[in-house]
Amino acid sequence: MLDLLIVNAVLPDGRHDMSVAVQDGRIVEVSPGLKAEARDTFDAQGLLLSPPFCDPHFHMDATLSYGKPRVNQSGTLLEGIGLWGELKPLLTEEALVERALAYCDWAAARGLLAIRSHVDTSDPSLLPVRAMLEVKKRVAEYIDLQLVAFPQDGVLRTKDGVDSLTRALNLGVDVVGGIPHFERTMADGMASVKLLCELAADRGLLVDMHCDETDDPMSRHIETLAYESHRLGLQGRVNGSHLTSMHSMDNYYVSKLIPLIAEAGVSAVANPLINITIQGRHDTYPKRRGMTRVPELMAAGINVAFGHDCVMDPWYSLGSGDMLEVAHMGVHVAQMTSQTGMRACFDAVTANAARIMHLRNYGIEKGCDASFLLLQARDPIEAIRLRAARLRVWRRGVLLAQSQPATATLEIEGRPGTTSFMPGRPGH
Ligand code: FE2
Repeated sequence: MLDLLIVNAVLPDGRHDMSVAVQDGRIVEVSPGLKAEARDTFDAQGLLLSPPFCDPHFHMDATLSYGKPRVNQSGTLLEGIGLWGELKPLLTEEALVERALAYCDWAAARGLLAIRSHVDTSDPSLLPVRAMLEVKKRVAEYIDLQLVAFPQDGVLRTKDGVDSLTRALNLGVDVVGGIPHFERTMADGMASVKLLCELAADRGLLVDMHCDETDDPMSRHIETLAYESHRLGLQGRVNGSHLTSMHSMDNYYVSKLIPLIAEAGVSAVANPLINITIQGRHDTYPKRRGMTRVPELMAAGINVAFGHDCVMDPWYSLGSGDMLEVAHMGVHVAQMTSQTGMRACFDAVTANAARIMHLRNYGIEKGCDASFLLLQARDPIEAIRLRAARLRVWRRGVLLAQSQPATATLEIEGRPGTTSFMPGRPGH
């Protein structure tokens, strides 16, 4: 007998009336109209069953610290970095763990079950690293938390930066990070990319760098990142986060750069909520959007995902762990409003992000983990439009969270009833 059978579900690729059979935490069959004995049978009623949301770019050590010790008045990246510097001496391991666990509760409730978080390695005490490793252990049953050794203040710019980052990796941090545009000079930025990629190649680790998070069109560290990935045979193992300078680059240069990124097998993560609020701050009008060239990168066959980056921290005062909010902003900032474009934005917070994180057994296919969620929407576009309620969230066959459907009761004279903002399904 099966442990769980979901019937009458729609999958993100459009297959409908699908049944998903679960045994021992794994999907054992996905087929239309399957009938079988199960301890628990759940009728999805034609709604969307999606693999979990994945956030490929987050800062778990800073999350939920909004207002400590003060709020970011200018809203700029540099004031945010300065503010994080003011907060760092006040951090305790207990408070970091407590805030991160609270965020992971939000994430699980939103069906966000895999997060790649950068963790600051600049301080030789490695306090945030130890705290996030503890969180990783404590949430492992319900969230895949992947950690990136992130030298926030610059691996070369910080005294003993390389040593601190290396010690973080020795403690069990998974991925090598970097921030070349924040090093003292362009030359130092390039040197940091080379050094960090070589470190990752030596240790067999993945790379994920904050790269060119600036409006400066001459910030071209992505070129070095692609070059080093190619040179060291790291294809498929390196990600460039932000790449916002590409928004402002000369088009002719980009026509050479994008094929170079594709050839090097480097993926990209844009962070629409943060890029649209932090970039273009030195502009008067017209103001640049600042997000990287998402549709053009995708068209070149480069894997592009969207990250949340920040929730209630020195850089961003909003957010609640909702990757549909991220996808919704991505649609708007990149003007990806075609049917294909909107579906690609859904993929950017699910399958594409999972590939960047090298998640195993991800997806709704036979043999995958039985981790999925039921959305109050009939397809990925409706899910983005409604930032749909996550009615049920399962992790390896076990129910993790449930939410009430979003409906409103109408008191309009002559039109009493309820609405759920879904055409053709009044009151559903
Ligand atoms: Fe970031």
